[in-house]
Amino acid sequence: MTAGPSVSPSYPTTRMRRNRASPWIRRLVAESRLSVDDLIWPVFVVEGTGARQPIPSMPGVDRLSTDLLSEEVAKARDLGIPAVAIFPYIEPSLKTPDGREAVNPNGLVCRAVRELKSSVPEIGVICDVALDEFNSDGHDGIVRDGIILNDETIEILCQQSVVQAEAGCDIIAPSDMMDGRIGAIRKALDDKGFQDVSIMSYAAKYASGYYGPFRDAVGSSGALTGDKKTYQMDTANTEEALREVAMDISEGADSVMVKPGLPYLDMVWRVKESFGVPTFVYNVSGEYAMLKAAAAQGWLDYDHVMMEALRSFKRAGADGILTYAACDAARILNDG
Ligand code: PBG
Repeated sequence: MTAGPSVSPSYPTTRMRRNRASPWIRRLVAESRLSVDDLIWPVFVVEGTGARQPIPSMPGVDRLSTDLLSEEVAKARDLGIPAVAIFPYIEPSLKTPDGREAVNPNGLVCRAVRELKSSVPEIGVICDVALDEFNSDGHDGIVRDGIILNDETIEILCQQSVVQAEAGCDIIAPSDMMDGRIGAIRKALDDKGFQDVSIMSYAAKYASGYYGPFRDAVGSSGALTGDKKTYQMDTANTEEALREVAMDISEGADSVMVKPGLPYLDMVWRVKESFGVPTFVYNVSGEYAMLKAAAAQGWLDYDHVMMEALRSFKRAGADGILTYAACDAARILNDG
């Protein structure tokens, strides 16, 4: 860090407003920059053809069948967005206590990946690894007698990662918060010859209330009993998040994530400062919904506050941002 205000001579020698006086000087002195290159677009996929299902708690976000998904992802590519993250809405009839649909090589996620990799090969594809989208409990792991089992869950997560890699996924993104899953998944991928498939760890993931609309989107909110506090982090903690990140890096994570975003900017900053690894932040569904809801009331200007929020992640040191506003932001950035 360079020295702060203490080195400036005081007013009237120094007039801070000189560096703000016009658009061109503001551009020259801008300290951080948001670019289309920083954006990852999370998308929801559903069975069917020509299917587009709006998600009421996420205005402007739809679940899409794989054909429409390919069309929309092609538009995202044309906007310059580097990668998408796929999340499935699994038919309730396919959800079982063991979440076995998660390891189905012909399941919805794998079909979506194959279709995207053949129709829009230029864009990176990231897959979520966790069981909550596939099991009847809405938890990220296997539940027995009310306990979320760690090691049993990891075995399934390894299989899930391998089937996603076989389908052509570029980045495996475990969001489950089981202990030891990064090392186990790295080994499972390597054993099957997927040395080049990368792992983006949801390393510092908090037991947040901001995931509500996402759980509507993937259909897990009705199923979920209790909360996720035995595996996701206590929102009071910061040192613990650094230990989580350190462990995941030592187990082989190529990049790490802080989640949610806006309420955890301190962690984005500390993780980037402490480890210097590619650091991503997830601007989650509830953060998106808040801005949309206020904008719908006419209380906030959506484009303005959305861009301001995304810039805050760059200021905090994030290398990239998962955001439902990726396409909106890309359009604004491309229009200058
Ligand atoms: C699944 C997962 C969740 C999110 C991403 N992956 C939900 C959860 O942990 O309950 C939330 C994303 C969002 O709210 O936008 N493990």
